[in-house]
Amino acid sequence: MERVRVGVVGCGAICGAYLGAGQQFRVLDFVACADLLPERAQARAQEFGVPRVCSVDDLVADPNVDVVLNLTVPKAHAGVATAALRAGKHTYAEKPFAVSREEGRPVYELAKKKQLRIGCAPDTFLGAGIQTCRKLIDDGWIGRPIGAAANMICHGHEDWHADPEFYYTTGGGPLFDMGPYYLTALVNLLGPVKRVTGSATITYPQRVVTSQPKYGTVLQVECPTHVMGIMEFANGAIGTIAMSFDVWAAQVPCLEIYGTEGTLAAPDPNCFGGPVRLWRNGAWSEVPLSHGYAEQSRSIGLADMAYGIRTGRPHRASGEMAFHVLDVMCGFYDAWEQGKWVALETTCERPAPLPLGLPAGTLDE
Ligand SMILES: NC(=O)c1ccc[n+]([C@@H]2O[C@H](COP(=O)([O-])OP(=O)(O)OC[C@H]3O[C@@H](n4cnc5c(N)ncnc54)[C@H](O)[C@@H]3O)[C@@H](O)[C@H]2O)c1
Repeated sequence: MERVRVGVVGCGAICGAYLGAGQQFRVLDFVACADLLPERAQARAQEFGVPRVCSVDDLVADPNVDVVLNLTVPKAHAGVATAALRAGKHTYAEKPFAVSREEGRPVYELAKKKQLRIGCAPDTFLGAGIQTCRKLIDDGWIGRPIGAAANMICHGHEDWHADPEFYYTTGGGPLFDMGPYYLTALVNLLGPVKRVTGSATITYPQRVVTSQPKYGTVLQVECPTHVMGIMEFANGAIGTIAMSFDVWAAQVPCLEIYGTEGTLAAPDPNCFGGPVRLWRNGAWSEVPLSHGYAEQSRSIGLADMAYGIRTGRPHRASGEMAFHVLDVMCGFYDAWEQGKWVALETTCERPAPLPLGLPAGTLDE
């Protein structure tokens, strides 16, 4: 299969994970790197043997680039995606899809109008752990799904990330940063969400950076950092979500799915592997992983989109699903501000499950 040429915009922390894990997918050919800070693009290109370093404008205009991989900070996602689509390029972004519905909708519409592919992280739902959960649910092991609980409780990222500002500005916070992993996993497992309600707060209006090189910098917190939500799925299941950067310690499962005949304890949806644990007939057991890609495989969603470009099949980490997840997240905030339930304007198809037995480094055609 002809390889798909990828130009990377945004060469910060997560870029190394893409360029590293991306090497396993033969369909991907990383041809160029760009960043607002050219030295970052230079460094990543050198580290991973990417042949070209250029400006963002030149990368987007480059006829040798088929897909613009957008690994910039959330506030820049929509702008970079729009420029790529206008230049006739497919584009795949890190999460979130955009920082608001108003910003995300035109990007989604433009991709449709131009008949270009738009994909979006997270792609961890294509990993062995969540794909095994999907198979168990689809094969009826927990009966009819009736509920779910998603929890990501921590104390934020200013103690390790070199540039933690974006976690505390619009488009950041635990909901927009970590919510996409949990919500995408849930949509993959249970289908789209119909309506939501929620509440949120900012416990600490300022944060002090304790990582290097910005140790001691005081950040003003612009977005909610402690968010609780309830979701009703179109299939009738009811889920809760708790996303917090304000809690020192907690003992809650990251993701559980409840059914009429059993319970599924899913692995961390921010990771690719297991363990997957199933309760049925009075006992818990660990289920062997049915699928591959249990190791760090960030870029599998991009590789899946590349297969889609070459074969014409739909890709799984789709703009449609990411825009729906964005709508769910915005819905929690709208519900909190307006004190009511919010019916979602968007929906999406559940992405097709990955087939069993894929050879390493490949996806289905
Ligand atoms: N760091 C992680 O562990 C992690 C994990 C998963 C996903 N992500 C997501 O990846 C994205 C990037 O996160 P990161 O941690 O790599 O951030 P980062 O700040 O380390 O890197 C972002 C890079 O994008 C560049 N950039 C910003 N705006 C730009 C623009 N308009 N044009 C070109 N370059 C631009 C910055 O100069 C920087 O080098 C975010 O959406 C984040 O949610 C991060």
